[in-house]
Amino acid sequence: MGQMAQKISQVDKEELLKILNVAFAEEWLAYYQYWLGARLAVGPMRKAVAAEFEEHAGEELEHAEKLAARIIELGGTPVLDPQEWQSVAMCKYDAPAKPYVMNLLEQNLVAERCAIVRYQKICEMTFGKDFDTYRMSADILREEIEHEEEIGAYKDDINAAFERKNGLE
Ligand SMILES: [Fe+2]
Ligand SMILES: [Fe+2]
Repeated sequence: MGQMAQKISQVDKEELLKILNVAFAEEWLAYYQYWLGARLAVGPMRKAVAAEFEEHAGEELEHAEKLAARIIELGGTPVLDPQEWQSVAMCKYDAPAKPYVMNLLEQNLVAERCAIVRYQKICEMTFGKDFDTYRMSADILREEIEHEEEIGAYKDDINAAFERKNGLE
């Protein structure tokens, strides 16, 4: 990190790097959860859900890339060993042992809600203190909010179709 860049950042750097690495590990797990889910999903609207998962996987990977770049810029080191992703991450990753679409959607919804909390927290930490990290986190937060909305909408649609079929509507 350049001299001026260090001078203008008003955030505790160690604390910031720690939470950025938590988010970084979580993004890899989120990427993998979506990537695998897109291939394993079975059940109603499978193709549409898989396409959505594939798109989200790509965006989670972009988030990981942005975080790695910022961590390095701040003089830190992104989590080096993939074995540490699970222990560093605070959002839990559930293996898609039951690949029925509703199970996968629920698992991803939990992960998205956890991600929203993470980026909200990073935004709060950096607002007015480190504009560059703030802007990155706010951009990612926006996408996580969209992800939650999209995954929730698929769940609602599948539930509605089920209720209609069973005359529960
Ligand atoms: Fe993400
Ligand atoms: Fe997401």
